[in-house]
Amino acid sequence: MKVAVIGSGGREHTLVWKISQSPMVTKIYALPGNGGISDIAECIPIGSEDISGIISFCKESKIDLVMIGPEVPLSKGLAETLREQGVPTVGPDSKCARLESSKVWAKEFMIKHGIPTAGYKTVTDKNSLMRAVDEFGLPIVIKMDGLCAGKGVFICKDMEEVESAVENIYGIATGGKVVVEEFLEGNEASYMIFTDGQSYIPLVTSRDHKKIFDGDKGPNTGGMGAVSPAPLDVGMDEKIKTSVIKPLLKALKNEKMHYNGVIYAGLMICPGDDIRVLEFNARFGDPETQVILTRMESDIMDILVPLGSISKLPSNYTIKWNDGVSCCVVIAQKGYPNDYEKGVHIPNLKNIKTDKNEFIFHAGTIKKKGEYYTNGGRVLGVTAVGTTLNEARKKAYSLVEKIAWSSSYYRKDIGLWR
Ligand code: AMP
Ligand code: GLY
Repeated sequence: MKVAVIGSGGREHTLVWKISQSPMVTKIYALPGNGGISDIAECIPIGSEDISGIISFCKESKIDLVMIGPEVPLSKGLAETLREQGVPTVGPDSKCARLESSKVWAKEFMIKHGIPTAGYKTVTDKNSLMRAVDEFGLPIVIKMDGLCAGKGVFICKDMEEVESAVENIYGIATGGKVVVEEFLEGNEASYMIFTDGQSYIPLVTSRDHKKIFDGDKGPNTGGMGAVSPAPLDVGMDEKIKTSVIKPLLKALKNEKMHYNGVIYAGLMICPGDDIRVLEFNARFGDPETQVILTRMESDIMDILVPLGSISKLPSNYTIKWNDGVSCCVVIAQKGYPNDYEKGVHIPNLKNIKTDKNEFIFHAGTIKKKGEYYTNGGRVLGVTAVGTTLNEARKKAYSLVEKIAWSSSYYRKDIGLWR
């Protein structure tokens, strides 16, 4: 089979790596891919948001299966357009992708279908935003409605932070909807499922670190590292299925949403095991994919092929997992999530040797004449699997120290929970 993976991040490198293990696969293309992906697949210089370019390529190259990684092409209708053209594709259509592409739509969907979430108000201007802040009190969470690459959420503990969020939001775009949400205290977890809208196959739990600095300080990022499994109490997996996944599946059926792909529920486990959904994503998480797929022993194509070709999950299929712990540390270019330099040489990267439980997944990299250079904010996801969290962390950090370049930045506390 010829497979095309759309995207250029660490998630897509991990997907390409996992798909490449399958005996069903003869050739993998990545559109556009990155420096690391180019070592194991053919990278085609067509951007992940170039819908017509992707369609033409997939048709001309007679691609047997497309796996879409990022949210923007999903929200622009890439999945349904590919399917309309007869190209088997894994990924939800743009209507289903509203679970992620509109926070307001997702909140209304959750409330309508009894999926537990934080109390909120939708506002459309600065005055009503300020009134909602008054009503809920501080701290408060302010979320922009559309896709913002993890950077449209502001957690404000005082009025100064509210003012700065307001300036950010109404400085960028005038008008538009904003969600003002009660602040929830608790432990986060990421829970993903494959679903065809009728049934689901769960993935193992994970947890990512969204803030830029150690101790979960500073602004949110796309994710600075992750661990799988998430540090949850025994029995939480079942509770998540009962209180979130089952109502979610019922809602998809009631709304006749023919979902196809992965749904990611970002959860807050509040005191008393009160589970609330902070967000849904219509795709694999990044860097959660790095820690999940490195624990997956089954062939991912067992699921992707039926989902892509007939929009059905295989029946009675259980994924086999390695029962170890996986830890991913993201190395970023200094300055991320704000401005950062591109094109910085990563001198040690090509010489690093890894064992079968260590993986260097590339995100923002480019390869030129055998050397790797930075090409984005999050640059590498250094991942290791161990029998314990401690072992996985040690292995990941020892690799990170060998690779880090002078203008790189990484958190030192991935996998340490306070
Ligand atoms: P979201 O994109 O909605 O998941 O928000 C990004 C991150 O902001 C989450 O992973 C949490 O760390 C934080 N966050 C979002 N909503 C809340 C909330 N209601 N209470 C506390 N933290 C939140
Ligand atoms: N790591 C969070 C996300 O993928 O949205």
